[in-house]
Amino acid sequence: MPRSNKSWIICNAAAAMRFQPLEKLINLSDGYSRQFKIDNLQLVLTQRMGEIHIFEANCPHRSHSLSSAVIDAGILRCPLHGYEFSLADGRLLHATEERCRGLRLYPVIYRGNELGLMLED
Ligand code: FES
Repeated sequence: MPRSNKSWIICNAAAAMRFQPLEKLINLSDGYSRQFKIDNLQLVLTQRMGEIHIFEANCPHRSHSLSSAVIDAGILRCPLHGYEFSLADGRLLHATEERCRGLRLYPVIYRGNELGLMLED
């Protein structure tokens, strides 16, 4: 069973949540990377070194696609300007120009033979 990241998002406790499946576990392996559009969200699901991550598909710096971002040792590096973000909590770790907000991460949820995330209804 692959390990999930340790990221969390704060949710409105009163909001109804629903499970959104993204992929069957059997389809995942190291090197997997796929982009999803769900409602208004663009997400990337990846597996690297046995760790599965779900994060926003565009860089918080200048919105470059993160579908081909380099991921190593729990750090995601945007291919455009090299900004680095922690995949543990989304924090900006390295900036070459102006600072930007952190990367939005989504906790990986397992249901049966699938994984996905929880979304507000
Ligand atoms: S757009 Fe990603 S680092 Fe600038």
